[in-house]
Amino acid sequence: MTSEGICYADNACHQAVEIVRHEEVGRSTRLLAVRCPEIAKRILPGQFVMLRPHGIYDPLIGRPLALFDVWYEGGEPAGIEVVYLVKGKLTSWLAEQAIGQTVEIWGPLGNGFDPQPTDHLVLVAGGIGQTPFLAVAKERLGIATFGLPNRNASNVSRITLCYGARTADYHAGVDRFQEVGIDVQLATDDGTAGHHGLVTTLLEKVLAGEPKAPRTQILTCGPERMMEAVAGVAAEFDLPCQVSLETPMACGIGICFTCVAAIATKDGWDYRRTCIEGPVFNAVDVVWDTTK
Ligand SMILES: Cc1cc2nc3c(=O)[nH]c(=O)nc-3n(C[C@H](O)[C@H](O)[C@H](O)COP(=O)(O)OP(=O)(O)OC[C@H]3O[C@@H](n4cnc5c(N)ncnc54)[C@H](O)[C@@H]3O)c2cc1C
Ligand code: FES
Repeated sequence: MTSEGICYADNACHQAVEIVRHEEVGRSTRLLAVRCPEIAKRILPGQFVMLRPHGIYDPLIGRPLALFDVWYEGGEPAGIEVVYLVKGKLTSWLAEQAIGQTVEIWGPLGNGFDPQPTDHLVLVAGGIGQTPFLAVAKERLGIATFGLPNRNASNVSRITLCYGARTADYHAGVDRFQEVGIDVQLATDDGTAGHHGLVTTLLEKVLAGEPKAPRTQILTCGPERMMEAVAGVAAEFDLPCQVSLETPMACGIGICFTCVAAIATKDGWDYRRTCIEGPVFNAVDVVWDTTK
């Protein structure tokens, strides 16, 4: 992860791929698995793909979706899973697509999370922001390896997921996180599951219960205001924090500059393309409010 920029798009494939699984995993939330071995063997946790219809030009522009997991056939990476919230034009169209139909995807894109060794990794998700964290957890706990060449990033002894949503039935894929041994701590705005209130308050409780010695790191993904608040908590506890920004994107490969975010430089701040230099940045480098 760097703010200076490395082009990851030269490792990407653009393909029409078959839908092999498509099911509801939460309220207005669906899991989509597609067959794409070339992308599956290259992709890293925190990277994403762009997805659009195949052979249809409305919607024309692809939408970014994070890697949820890689699926295997005969022990080899055969495809990827993504989890999406049915929100607007593309995701409403996608929700209607059946197994056996094709979609266009290009990826892997972006930098992914930096797998620095740590004792306790705390993942903080809000809304649909949990999607990048299953692959992160599997890799860091040594349950799966990712990338070409395959990298070994098994370097964490304990993972907690603090996962906030508006109401309980928006929590999607919780069983998948629990299956791999993550301590899942839920929060809801309306109190229907877990902590009643903000996920950042839950995060503060988790961190306050920590012994001082272990190294703890935070990764976060979700609404921008939530990530800004998580970055504030990380600063308060003096902990390193990486954020995965969800800025709107059009090309995903560094051409259109739709996706820029304000990132600190040695002279102040400048715009960086989230699809190329991100989507993961060190929280301390993100300039949340450029008017300050
Ligand atoms: C790197 C990355 C990874 C992502 N991973 C996932 C994922 O795994 N699952 C998932 O459900 N979503 C994910 N998103 C967000 C998703 O790409 C957008 O919500 C997408 O626009 C939905 O497409 P749509 O056509 O259904 O909605 P649209 O018709 O594009 O938009 C619906 C509404 O959302 C607003 N909007 C569009 N894009 C964004 C955005 N990025 N952030 C905030 N508001 C937006 C629009 O202004 C509009 O009001 C990710 C975004 C990024 C940048
Ligand atoms: S989405 Fe086009 S430059 Fe980032």
